Amino acid sequence: MTQTQGSLVRQITDYAHRADPYPIYAELRKTPVVHDEEGPYIVSTYWEIHGLLHDPRLSSDARNLDPRAASEPPEEDDPGLPPSFLRLDPPEHDRLRRLATAPFGPPHTPRRLHEMRGELTRIVGELIDGFDGRDRIDLVDHFSYPFPVTVICRLLGVPREDEPRFHAWADTLAASLDPGPDAEAGTDTGADVAERRRITRQARTELATYLSELIEERRRAPGDDMLSALVGEQGPEGRMSRVELLSTAALLLVAGHETTVNLITNGMLTLLRNPDVLARLREDPHLVVPLVEELLRFDPPVQMLPQRTPLSEIDIAGVTIPQGASVWLLLASGNRDPQRFPDPDRFDPQRRDNQHLGFGSGVHSCFGAPLARLEAQIALTELARRLDGPRLLEDPPTYRRNAVLRGPRHLPLAFEGLRPNRTAHRSPNGSPNGSRHGYPNGSPNGSPNGSR
Ligand code: HEM
Repeated sequence: MTQTQGSLVRQITDYAHRADPYPIYAELRKTPVVHDEEGPYIVSTYWEIHGLLHDPRLSSDARNLDPRAASEPPEEDDPGLPPSFLRLDPPEHDRLRRLATAPFGPPHTPRRLHEMRGELTRIVGELIDGFDGRDRIDLVDHFSYPFPVTVICRLLGVPREDEPRFHAWADTLAASLDPGPDAEAGTDTGADVAERRRITRQARTELATYLSELIEERRRAPGDDMLSALVGEQGPEGRMSRVELLSTAALLLVAGHETTVNLITNGMLTLLRNPDVLARLREDPHLVVPLVEELLRFDPPVQMLPQRTPLSEIDIAGVTIPQGASVWLLLASGNRDPQRFPDPDRFDPQRRDNQHLGFGSGVHSCFGAPLARLEAQIALTELARRLDGPRLLEDPPTYRRNAVLRGPRHLPLAFEGLRPNRTAHRSPNGSPNGSRHGYPNGSPNGSPNGSR
């Protein structure tokens, strides 16, 4: 990797590398921590990333960033929708995350996810039934996008029919995470920083207005959903303020929209490129649990975390990162580090000791991981089982511009036929495979290594 090819920031975020960024990461790993000419310190090796994710000196709060260190000046705070707990440090982060966890799942409400399994399987079954009469589909538009969106709407209590309104806001907010110089601004064309910020701010305001109306409705007439629970929750730590609730709801809605879609699409792309694994999955649905973990390692939907900054100087891998510097953690590169994973460029669904960084690690590790795992496990098992003779019509497919939340924009597939939907004959626990809890391994976490 030479500076004559342009700054590292530009190389990493360059759309020309979106379909296969892994050769660039391999070059980067020769120097675990590099200070790029555009400002950020780029960390590309597993143990350094892992160490920093567990280091309390590394802040997620952009207000600690030295404005001179960033490739772009930091954004001003928006009092209508302040930073969510993703962008806060302990103790504020921990209080809000604990309050959000209470109505979401384990350890507080372990049954919520268990009980959703039957419904998730039914939604997947219906979406695949919708392919009937066709011999080709776009997996993204017909399946990978509508599935997790329907699920997050149900979970939060957001009307599914409002999706066309919040789809654009969620896309714009997801695009705002992309630090690349030519990131999209809610459109597929590049835009300058000021224009991107204007569009992002407008999307935030509109989403906040929409969610506040919804929260008012849930306050008046609570339902069996997370928003209602968060409005009413009054535990020992009190409840969230109105704006905290808004930021949390916006975070969950965007995270539920823009990540799992890529795990399912990357998953199907990888399976179709590895037909032997697809055939094994059809024979043995239990393979899906380690297979989804391997996908999160091999081609993770969140490629990097470009928003960290040291609260005080940090020495790492022979480099001193100053207080206030911008730090980018390349999760997807750490996942391919040969010092951590033997033969890392091989997709091996039976890989052992697979503590990947796909969901991050440390205090900010993914809140939605148990749900995302379950969604991907059900989706891939059913696609593998029901599609007869599936094949890719475009390889590599066209990718979204976003370098952080990376995945195909479309995945055109052809297939020869559709096998029957068995989900109508489920066991009482909603399981199509009859295991005790409906999980192939009896665990909602699904990780062979436990939660991370
Ligand atoms: C395959 C799908 C997903 C992937 C790959 C993913 C990945 C990640 C990663 C890497 C982080 C760490 C961010 C950081 O350290 O700054 C994270 C955090 C988070 N994720 Fe996910 N995520 C997924 C799905 C979801 C879903 C479905 C939800 C919502 C239900 C969700 C909610 C969150 C939240 C709220 C955080 C912030 C946690 C914190 O700051 O404590 N994620 N996710």
